Amino acid sequence: MFKIKVRTDKKSYPVYLGQGIMESIGPVMSRCLPARPVLVVSDRNVAPHYAEKCLKSLQLGGFKPFLEVLEGGEEDKSLMAASGLYERLLKTGLDRHSAIVALGGGVIGDLAGFVAATYLRGVPYVQVPTTLLAMVDSSIGGKVAVNHPLGKNLIGAFYQPALVVGDVDALKTLPGRELNAGLAELVKYGIIRDKKLFEQLESLIQSVPPEDWLLKIDSRQLLKFIIRAVLIKGEIVYFDEKEKNLRRILNFGHTFGHALESATRYAYYLHGEAVACGMAMEARLAALQEILDRVSQQRIISLIKQLDLPRPPAGLSVNAVMKALSYDKKKEGEELIFVLPAGIGKVLMYKAPSSSLVEKVVEEYLRGDLF
Ligand SMILES: NC(=O)c1ccc[n+]([C@@H]2O[C@H](COP(=O)([O-])OP(=O)(O)OC[C@H]3O[C@@H](n4cnc5c(N)ncnc54)[C@H](O)[C@@H]3O)[C@@H](O)[C@H]2O)c1
Repeated sequence: MFKIKVRTDKKSYPVYLGQGIMESIGPVMSRCLPARPVLVVSDRNVAPHYAEKCLKSLQLGGFKPFLEVLEGGEEDKSLMAASGLYERLLKTGLDRHSAIVALGGGVIGDLAGFVAATYLRGVPYVQVPTTLLAMVDSSIGGKVAVNHPLGKNLIGAFYQPALVVGDVDALKTLPGRELNAGLAELVKYGIIRDKKLFEQLESLIQSVPPEDWLLKIDSRQLLKFIIRAVLIKGEIVYFDEKEKNLRRILNFGHTFGHALESATRYAYYLHGEAVACGMAMEARLAALQEILDRVSQQRIISLIKQLDLPRPPAGLSVNAVMKALSYDKKKEGEELIFVLPAGIGKVLMYKAPSSSLVEKVVEEYLRGDLF
């Protein structure tokens, strides 16, 4: 089992990563939290595989666990679902000396973390990520949120977990499409911060067809990639917990990615898929703006092409994507901000690129010319 310490100004916490460590959650948790009642929040795809294991282990660690299984999916990241959890916590009699365990992907982690941040002005919570995306990204760094009908993640807080326990073996039951979406997040870390990671992923992905890369990849190798990503995220969060500066580089791929998600009403792409398309588009924009050399642009786009992403949806217009871009919440005044690659392993913040070039990139993507 590997242990990585994530530090912020006011708090530091361990992230445990390994194979088959779900069985150890209880004993591991008892090193950070005294025995107490715990509400385990999960969803209907994850609970049948892992809830029993998790509950047994919590009992072994001296905790008194209760289980709440939600439907899952983005609709559950809502104030209504949060309210249901408050009710369950209150009715079960869980007080300030209790804790919450988020057993699931980013949806469960964001929701349960939000409830932990607000229930009785805050109770500790533990992230047990079961998707690749959640292991390398959403479980680390304390961004917790629910959606509002007017936009995603608009109601939330920065609230760090007490610990994170990521078991790579949990990825064995994850659907292939979800895995690829998580793999896109790993590629993102390579592009923004770690050329060696990018190159390792390049040789892995190009040698194995995307539909079965995880079956062929050695779990230990995957664990190494996850550890690398968590170290990078931890370092970024250490320098900029509240996303005032450095943490914004994690938004690489997100300006175009969010516009694609929003223009398709969050019903066509998985989040990681939209970000992956956004990364290819932002690499192309960087090359058009002469920030990125053509060879690096090609390498980034060809790696992303291997991720088996959905085709641009029929009927999605350039205008619809441009309109969605104009509502981007990362805008400063009227100006769009992009995180653009300046090489592999290096990105910069770029304000107000030429709107004709932005439109050209959207056209190329929608025509299928980009990849
Ligand atoms: N807080 C952050 O910093 C941050 C960062 C990135 C993304 N996010 C958020 O994360 C969410 C997306 O997270 P996600 O991609 O993990 O999606 P998710 O939580 O919806 O999980 C994806 C699907 O896989 C299923 N699943 C999860 N683990 C499984 C397993 N081991 N076996 C079988 N099925 C499993 C889930 O039930 C769900 O159907 C979005 O809401 C996004 O906004 C948050």
